[in-house]
Amino acid sequence: MALILGIESSCDETAAAVVRDGEQLLSNVVSSQIATHIPYGGVVPELASREHLRAIVPVVRQAISEASTSLNGIDAIAVTQGPGLAGSLLVGITYAKALVFALAKPLIAVNHLEGHIHAVLLEQRQQESEELSLPALALVVSGGHTHLYVVNRSETAWSYRNVGHTLDDAAGEAFDKVAKLLGLSYPGGPIIEKLAAHGNPLAITMPLSQIKLRQKGVEGSSSPTYDFSFSGIKTAVLRFVEKNAMKDSIERRRKAIEGIPNPAPEDVLAHSDLLTLDLIASFQEAVVQDLVRKTMRSAGDLEVQSLIVTGGVASNGRLRAEFQKRAEAEGFRVLFPSRSLSTDNAAMIAAAAYPKLLQQQFADSRFSAEASLRLGA
Ligand code: KG4
Ligand code: ZN
Repeated sequence: MALILGIESSCDETAAAVVRDGEQLLSNVVSSQIATHIPYGGVVPELASREHLRAIVPVVRQAISEASTSLNGIDAIAVTQGPGLAGSLLVGITYAKALVFALAKPLIAVNHLEGHIHAVLLEQRQQESEELSLPALALVVSGGHTHLYVVNRSETAWSYRNVGHTLDDAAGEAFDKVAKLLGLSYPGGPIIEKLAAHGNPLAITMPLSQIKLRQKGVEGSSSPTYDFSFSGIKTAVLRFVEKNAMKDSIERRRKAIEGIPNPAPEDVLAHSDLLTLDLIASFQEAVVQDLVRKTMRSAGDLEVQSLIVTGGVASNGRLRAEFQKRAEAEGFRVLFPSRSLSTDNAAMIAAAAYPKLLQQQFADSRFSAEASLRLGA
């Protein structure tokens, strides 16, 4: 039996969790900085580091206490090495290093993207006695990534082969940028999902980018690559705003929302006309259709056994419903994390660290943050 304390501080959430044997969640504490970044419409890296510094000690203490254990009762400490904001990552890493030094425990460095994949594996193990059928195709879809990986396992070692990624914006980034453009609040994903329910997803035609199958593959590998692109959809929203002279109404909404400290979706809805709601619903639908269509095509080509959809955008209900429908029709099983494990958390970091603990794959005390860390081959 092994207890791992996970620490995650790669972006705008300070998180700590205690997980037993990579599957039992004993605690999962997330302190969000969203309120700090709302006035800027996006994450301000300097403010993020400062907020992590404030939150890290109480968040770790709370995770330890909610797990009914003590720092001495922990077997290993796992921390996110990257990718993410360098200054933010450093807060978690420095604190984790200090803890392992004081406690004489092993330290495990985890890739944030591997964490998102293990959020799903953790819950699958919790709920089922059978292992997931592999290989699986994992779509990691978040604010920084829209990446496809073929996930496999040999004994206790997990492997990841990157078979596709976005050529421009990540899907979550497109949600955030469109929300900013339309004068909605930050982050864009949750508010767009709420408002989209009040619009017609078929009202406005958006361009669907063509799947590009690059025969050369990622980093010169011989296998083909499946690319995504969201800049066309984002530009289509901008053109629609210009063509329909929506700028004034966007400014009025922005001003009205600015005056509300923590705007609820209802506050934003009260300042959104039908044309705006149709645009939001059509934008969300275009992103969802693009993600589902390309992922399903890749899953078919690559002959995988299961599908994993994870990362912040995977909490989108419309995306989940469409994936369920298409996967069922094509005979694939698709798994998502619960909503609380879709967005950034530390349980996924502790879960991804468990196989590394079994293999005694520990981090060197000199390791540092890697803002652009890649996952797999
Ligand atoms: O995984 P995550 O918490 O952080 C990163 O690793 O980036 O993902 C955050 C992203 C943001 O871009 C946010 O707008 C998006 O996930 N997001 C959503 C939803 N909830 C969060 N996008 C669409 N629909 C949602 N319900
Ligand atoms: Zn993330």
